[in-house]
Amino acid sequence: MTSLTTAQESVASIDADALIVGWAADGSVAAHPLLSDEAREAIAAGAAALDASSKAGKVTVLPGVGVAARRVVVVGVGDATTEDLRTAAGEASRAVGKKPAAVVVALPVESDEAAVAVAQGALLGAYAFTDYKSDEDAATDTAWTVAGASDAAIARAQILIAAAAGIRDLVNTPPLDLFPGSFAEIAQQLGAAAGVEVKVWEAQDLANEGFGGILGVGMGSSRLPRLVRVGYAPEGATQTVALVGKGITFDTGGISLKPSKSMETMKSDMTGAATVLHAVIAAARAELPVAVTAWLCLAENMPSATAQRPSDVIRIYGGKTVEVLNTDAEGRLVMADGLVKACEEDPDVVLDVATLTGAQGAALGTRTSGVMGTEAIRDEVVAAAGEADELMWPMPLPEHLRAGIDSKVADLQNMGDPQGGGMLTAGIFLREFVGDTPWGHLDIARPAYNEGKPWAENVAGATGHSLRTLFRFLENRAQA
Ligand code: BES
Ligand code: MN
Ligand code: ZN
Repeated sequence: MTSLTTAQESVASIDADALIVGWAADGSVAAHPLLSDEAREAIAAGAAALDASSKAGKVTVLPGVGVAARRVVVVGVGDATTEDLRTAAGEASRAVGKKPAAVVVALPVESDEAAVAVAQGALLGAYAFTDYKSDEDAATDTAWTVAGASDAAIARAQILIAAAAGIRDLVNTPPLDLFPGSFAEIAQQLGAAAGVEVKVWEAQDLANEGFGGILGVGMGSSRLPRLVRVGYAPEGATQTVALVGKGITFDTGGISLKPSKSMETMKSDMTGAATVLHAVIAAARAELPVAVTAWLCLAENMPSATAQRPSDVIRIYGGKTVEVLNTDAEGRLVMADGLVKACEEDPDVVLDVATLTGAQGAALGTRTSGVMGTEAIRDEVVAAAGEADELMWPMPLPEHLRAGIDSKVADLQNMGDPQGGGMLTAGIFLREFVGDTPWGHLDIARPAYNEGKPWAENVAGATGHSLRTLFRFLENRAQA
């Protein structure tokens, strides 16, 4: 098992496959209370000869001379902000050699925040999804030591890393194996282990109670849809936060079929559900004094003889009707059911997380999520993202786009103005289902899944993006 611990002894004498140290702008090894001046100078001589760079995440690898570790990874720490340190640890974690059994990290961790960032960078940067590799040795188990970190920082890092890795595992799992029923079972198992309450609506329950959005999207698949409620309600909590996650375990587009290229990454269309599930579990493990309820809207969007058709009208939970003009705009349909249900419990705030639109990527690119909603909540989410070092940007819900989702036959239609602003139209659609509840909407379509090269703590595939923001939002609420 990969592990994370701290050490409070001189790092030069710790036996390890690799020792990671920082490289500062003044051309020296970044100071660390557990790294002696002799060791720093020995490493600095080698690093300078190889033109080491202080740019955050720039890696220079040296043989382990003057230290017990076999190699020394010197990595630029930039301005040593938490973001720079996470990036440095992330990049360095992929330069520690093949299958290291033990790695010691001696980056500057003067605050708990810095120590958490370093631990996240190291363990998430070295994350690999190997469940489907035949080679039994495909997985690497590494003992990571973050030197000088406090026990509190290690405990907090373990919770946040486990949540991000848990999201990645779910998202990376092929849709053959991760479908609404199996996802609901996993939620039950994880929930039981964390001591939180889990309730599952099977397809028949959804039909009985009128969840027409989740059913409409899910009815084209032989693997029937589910709604899952995961509740953490600590004694004495004065705040209740509801989290609603899009859980399309595979999005073919349905009858409005996607081109094959656009479909390749659509196993990631359940990232929102995975994220809200792990956010609740993390809140419970951290014993945050705030009640958190996650709603997982799970369906597989398939084209078939039983699939919904463009022009079908469905009835969302609570009664509003929607004309489905494009079966590929399915996320807003399942989310509508989830939002109405979540708001029925009268939470203080509801946040929804969804890989909702390709338009998010067109507007903001592959790394920055769009945040919409009630303005105060939108700004609270963006502020939490800033504190958590995640790229999120506030977006408007312009009133003139509202008329675009008026339907000729139903209360609403699931497509809007064809001239652009698809991310905003989707937000405006969701707004119809939250009533007066203060609401935030996170469109994480592209940041959820890295189609490019590894960067910072992100490897290829699922990233876990938005978990840190949600957790920070919950922590801030707990203090309010
Ligand atoms: N799951 C997709 C959005 C998406 C696209 C996520 C790319 C990640 C990467 C969503 O269900 C979808 O297909 N949206 C359509 C909506 C349109 C038909 C109004 C889109 O964005 O094209
Ligand atoms: Mn779609
Ligand atoms: Zn989708």
